[in-house]
Amino acid sequence: MLPTSFFLPLWLARSALALAPSGPWDAFNFAPKSRTVYATVIRTSAGTVTNADNLLRATGSATLDPESWVTLDFGQEARGLISLNFDDVGDNSSLALSFTESPSFIRPTASDDSTFPDATTTYDGVLPVAAPLPTGYWTQPAYALRGGFRFLTLVSTGADALMLSNVSCAISFMPHFADLRAYTGYFSAPDPGFHDPDFLTKIWMAGAYTVQTNTVGLHTGRQIPVVSQGWANNATLGIAGPIIVDGAKRDRAVWPGDMGIAVPTQFVSTNDLIPTRNALGTMFSNINPVTGALPESGPPLSQLGSDTYHCWTLIGTHNYYLYSGDIEWLQTIWANYTKAVAFLENKVDPAVGLMNITGLRDWARQGGGGFNAEGNAIFYRVYLYLPPSPILIASPQVLVTSASLASAMNLSSLSDAWTKNASDVKTAYNTAFWVPELGMFRDNMTTTLTPQDGNSFAVLFNLTTSPAQAASVSAGLEKNWNALGAVAPELPDTISPFIGGFELQAHFTAGNATRAMDLLHREWGYILYTNLSVQSTLLEGFTANGSLAYRANVGYNDDPAYTSHSHGWSSGPTSALTIYVVGLSVTAPQGSAWLLSPNLAGLPSAEGGFETPLGWFGASWTVSTRGGTTTFSVSVDVPEGTAGVFALPQELRGGSVSVKVDGRAAVLGANDDMPLSGGKHTVSVVARG
Ligand SMILES: *[C@@H]1O[C@H](CO)[C@@H](O)[C@H](O)[C@H]1NC(C)=O
Ligand SMILES: *[C@@H]1O[C@H](CO)[C@@H](O)[C@H](O)[C@H]1NC(C)=O
Ligand SMILES: *[C@@H]1O[C@H](CO)[C@@H](O)[C@H](O)[C@H]1NC(C)=O
Ligand SMILES: *[C@@H]1O[C@H](CO)[C@@H](O)[C@H](O)[C@H]1NC(C)=O
Ligand SMILES: *[C@@H]1O[C@H](CO)[C@@H](O)[C@H](O)[C@H]1NC(C)=O
Ligand SMILES: *[C@@H]1O[C@H](CO)[C@@H](O)[C@H](O)[C@H]1NC(C)=O
Ligand SMILES: *[C@@H]1O[C@H](CO)[C@@H](O)[C@H](O)[C@H]1NC(C)=O
Ligand SMILES: *[C@@H]1O[C@H](CO)[C@@H](O)[C@H](O)[C@H]1NC(C)=O
Ligand SMILES: *[C@@H]1O[C@H](CO)[C@@H](O)[C@H](O)[C@H]1NC(C)=O
Ligand SMILES: *[C@@H]1O[C@H](CO)[C@@H](O)[C@H](O)[C@H]1NC(C)=O
Ligand SMILES: *[C@@H]1O[C@H](CO)[C@@H](O)[C@H](O)[C@H]1NC(C)=O
Ligand SMILES: *[C@@H]1O[C@H](CO)[C@@H](O)[C@H](O)[C@H]1NC(C)=O
Repeated sequence: MLPTSFFLPLWLARSALALAPSGPWDAFNFAPKSRTVYATVIRTSAGTVTNADNLLRATGSATLDPESWVTLDFGQEARGLISLNFDDVGDNSSLALSFTESPSFIRPTASDDSTFPDATTTYDGVLPVAAPLPTGYWTQPAYALRGGFRFLTLVSTGADALMLSNVSCAISFMPHFADLRAYTGYFSAPDPGFHDPDFLTKIWMAGAYTVQTNTVGLHTGRQIPVVSQGWANNATLGIAGPIIVDGAKRDRAVWPGDMGIAVPTQFVSTNDLIPTRNALGTMFSNINPVTGALPESGPPLSQLGSDTYHCWTLIGTHNYYLYSGDIEWLQTIWANYTKAVAFLENKVDPAVGLMNITGLRDWARQGGGGFNAEGNAIFYRVYLYLPPSPILIASPQVLVTSASLASAMNLSSLSDAWTKNASDVKTAYNTAFWVPELGMFRDNMTTTLTPQDGNSFAVLFNLTTSPAQAASVSAGLEKNWNALGAVAPELPDTISPFIGGFELQAHFTAGNATRAMDLLHREWGYILYTNLSVQSTLLEGFTANGSLAYRANVGYNDDPAYTSHSHGWSSGPTSALTIYVVGLSVTAPQGSAWLLSPNLAGLPSAEGGFETPLGWFGASWTVSTRGGTTTFSVSVDVPEGTAGVFALPQELRGGSVSVKVDGRAAVLGANDDMPLSGGKHTVSVVARG
């Protein structure tokens, strides 16, 4: 372990970060260049709208006659207060603003829904601006901030016409960033087999942008109890801002499960970890002082009663520490952290060795109570802070620097005891849930249902006991797919890109990058291109046939207008492409130890990287095959003084390989891996057969 003085404090660190290298991938960055954005296209209009095109720029007016309306398309997901100029209005002119993410809900009479799911799909209604209208510059009131939209419909609702100009949106996510495009990471790879060869680079960017739109000011949460009509986004979200929430439009509250996907995205793209610290700190500050239970979500929603989301706060703490090295913060929450671990331990039935899940709230999946496989997989992960790749365990030089929080706190006997408990949970898990005839884990001891979540976590968190078992689960998960992605048995008729993001990682972990890429193309290919959505940020979920009626009869009251189109929990591909395709990940705080483990994934090349306070971590590889010979070459550029491991791509294993590091012959270890020091290196591999 490097001395802690090696790490920069986070505040200093953030300002010391530089930008990722620029390149062709910048063309796919969705983040706007300016905080003031104008619509790009007139989507539609009705009645008499004169000079509508003037609404796409700062100058020139348009006139809307009574009962006329015009819909502006901002081209991609936006969020912020609308400003405009009333140039000429009559005594009886009035205006209504109607917002929507999906074009399916472009309507002069109602926005899409964010306040409450209602089968009418019209709960939110419009934002009225009543007569008499002012003249001159006008800005939407702050409480009425619309958290996410792509389409804005301006409706002339009065008896007099009105003349407008200069309709802009003041982008207000990531309020602490001067330049929204100041990414500290990037990814680029051609995808020659897909209908859009830039898909992989675009989906990486879409995930990054989604999490940006979920990074918000402290006082911009959805009001709870919900307002009786319209919407209000002026609630306070936690102990400090900026803060990371689940979605742009809604819920606009801290949800630690969502962070299990969104925070790795944030780390590899913007390294904007302060909103994460504020979100986690909010959860710990709201711990139940008697029981040690953590809330399921942050204020003002403050849902209680979720054992899995309780675990996610603890896992999120590990991730935050791994990325930031912020031991000072870890010390401030440590007493509450251990109390929260004890809360889980109290639920373990000693006769079974598993946790009895009684806090049933979760990501919307059904079942989940008692000795449940998903809940116990997440519980296992809380105990065992070891990275999931087999290589890491096999390589002692990584093991000694692995990010166990207890060992970071110099509590080695606690660390040993937690590791022992984790091992006991794993044994009990296999006894209770493994069904040899199905080659998968069942949801609980009284069902044959094999869930997407529990099986994905089992592979990803290494509750499997052999590579063959992991491969079997990976193959079993594929049986749930349709053309649009993985349908979750535990939430029928639903494709969940949240759980899908874990499944994606599970296929890579199980050694089948081909299968992972297939899922990526199906599920996120649908999300990014479907004209039901915003084609820039990522949909919360959808039904098996691709409709927006996500959770229609499971919480969302048959309201497809309520579905969020910008949910960080759907951004799994962003970190997965960096970690598993480029192959770079950190295994100790700030990347003082790292892993370079690319998967060829059927691609000719890939490159990317990210920055931490220690410096730049980048890698770039190419592969080509001629005759029976495959030539693979990867360049890596990481900070001096760090230590890493290179692992041979799965696809090149099993045959005869010769390896050179910086031009000199090198030998791989028994696990097809070898140590590499920090600095710049080139590893070349020639594989035959
Ligand atoms: C305009 O508004 C006034 C009151 O402000 C009202 O008396 C009048 O009838 C309105 N005219 C029309 C055409 O609606
Ligand atoms: C939020 O805005 C509404 C509508 O203006 C207002 O009634 C309410 O007091 C505001 N709440 C807070 C916390 O500012
Ligand atoms: C047009 O809107 C922009 C952005 O809100 C504002 O800065 C500018 O002052 C407005 N122009 C006029 C003439 O009001
Ligand atoms: C720890 O929990 C207590 C409640 O038991 C709470 O008052 C305190 O704010 C929490 N500390 C931190 C740093 O979150
Ligand atoms: C066991 O799993 C099945 C399938 O998910 C579910 O229907 C059932 O409710 C679960 N049992 C409990 C106690 O949650
Ligand atoms: C789990 O705990 C609940 C509440 O104490 C209890 O009712 C239930 O029987 C337990 N389930 C199992 C499988 O032990
Ligand atoms: C996964 O668990 C097996 C034992 O069941 C162990 O041999 C292997 O090293 C573990 N891999 C990781 C990455 O923890
Ligand atoms: C752990 O011990 C090391 C070496 O004695 C020390 O530098 C470090 O500050 C300690 N960390 C904590 C969190 O106490
Ligand atoms: C290990 O788990 C048991 C419950 O199964 C619990 O009583 C014990 O406190 C745990 N050990 C530690 C160090 O947390
Ligand atoms: C990987 O998955 C693909 C697609 O399901 C399958 O055809 C192939 O056999 C799998 N490869 C391995 C090594 O399991
Ligand atoms: C979306 O695309 C389908 C064809 O894929 C087309 O029929 C439909 O009209 C499009 N909808 C919109 C709103 O553009
Ligand atoms: C798609 O699925 C939803 C939910 O099951 C259903 O209501 C809808 O009718 C389906 N749409 C089509 C076109 O089949």
